[in-house]
Amino acid sequence: MNVLVVGGGGREHALVWALRRDAPSDTIFAAPGNPGTAALATNLPIPPTAVDQIVGAVLRHDIDVTIVGPEAPLAAGLTDRLREQERAVFGPSAAAAQLESSKAYAKEVMRRAGVPTAASATFADLTPALAYIHDHAEPLVVKASGLAAGKGAVVCATRADAAQIARAMMGGSLGDAGREIVIEQFLQGEELSVLALTDGERLLILPPAQDHKRLGERDTGPNTGGMGAYCPVGIATDELLARVRTEVFEPVLREVAAQGTPYEGVLYAGLMILPDGTPSVLEFNARFGDPEAQALLPALLPGFSEHLVAIAQRRWDPVTSQQALTVERAAVTTVLAARGYPESPEKGVAIRLPGTAELGDDVLVFHAGTYRDNEGRLRTSGGRVLSVTGLGQTVAVAAEASRRCAEKIAFEGKTWRRDIAWREIQRAGAA
Ligand code: AMP
Ligand code: GLY
Repeated sequence: MNVLVVGGGGREHALVWALRRDAPSDTIFAAPGNPGTAALATNLPIPPTAVDQIVGAVLRHDIDVTIVGPEAPLAAGLTDRLREQERAVFGPSAAAAQLESSKAYAKEVMRRAGVPTAASATFADLTPALAYIHDHAEPLVVKASGLAAGKGAVVCATRADAAQIARAMMGGSLGDAGREIVIEQFLQGEELSVLALTDGERLLILPPAQDHKRLGERDTGPNTGGMGAYCPVGIATDELLARVRTEVFEPVLREVAAQGTPYEGVLYAGLMILPDGTPSVLEFNARFGDPEAQALLPALLPGFSEHLVAIAQRRWDPVTSQQALTVERAAVTTVLAARGYPESPEKGVAIRLPGTAELGDDVLVFHAGTYRDNEGRLRTSGGRVLSVTGLGQTVAVAAEASRRCAEKIAFEGKTWRRDIAWREIQRAGAA
């Protein structure tokens, strides 16, 4: 089979890695991929949102299944275009992907479906937004409705901060993404990323992961796309996941199907688990998380990628091969970012990346913001440069492996957190 993975980040490297492991004889392409995927697949130099070029490449290379990694090509309609060409593709239609690309839409779907989420209001004009802020208790969270690459949600301690952020977003600080905003109540609790595979009707909940969104250790500093992730997560009990299924995924999938825009692919619910145990939805993503995928995929038994192929080919049976969804080992992923991330990451810095002999066989290194210069030397090209997944029998052991490997990779300005999975390690210590 010929398989194409669209995207070039750490998540896509992990997807290519899982496909290669599960089906060694497949021919795998990545568009555009990165120096990490180049070792496992053929990279095609096409940006993920160049929809016409990707459709052209699918036809030219006779791609059987396309797996879309990032949100931008989903929002740009890549899956719709491929389905018009009768090509199998893993990922929701642009209409269904609005669960991520429009927070206003996601809130409306949740309201209609009765899904627990923070009280909120949506605004396209500044004056009523400012009035709402004036009338509500701080802290408040101001969110750009559109896609903003992890920069779209700002937790504001005071009403004055909220007013300032609302003004900036609606004034165009995030381009068109912030012309419409959602203002919502601040929720206290522990965050959990729960992802479910679905063909539009049936669903399989994947083992949850926990992301570390803040730049600094102990969850301080600005929000980022994610500085690390791990699984399994102790708070994700069977009882909690049963609630997430019946209170979040089932009603949302039913609601979007009833609207004539059934959702197929992977649906990511970013949850706040409230002190009373309620799973409240902070956001939906229409894709795998990054860096959650780099922890989740290596933690699962081989065979996982067959689910993606079967959903794309519309022959999925969620009951068979369910065991591929069992967590076989703990995984902890540490992101190595460039100096200046997330605001203005430094680029072009040389990277020293030791080989497996030095790094050990209990770690996997996934590329994201890297490129090879004319001499073949690895350099940084973006905010999140590499992610390092440590594996082990327990989260503590996996975290230690991840940290040890992260230490050994060198580039100037390397910015990373040594405390990924700290909550879990604390929990295990207290048990
Ligand atoms: P979002 O893009 O909506 O997931 O927001 C990004 C991050 O902002 C989340 O992962 C949370 O850490 C934080 N956040 C978003 N909404 C809220 C909320 N209502 N209460 C507390 N924190 C939030
Ligand atoms: N790590 C959060 C995300 O992928 O959106």
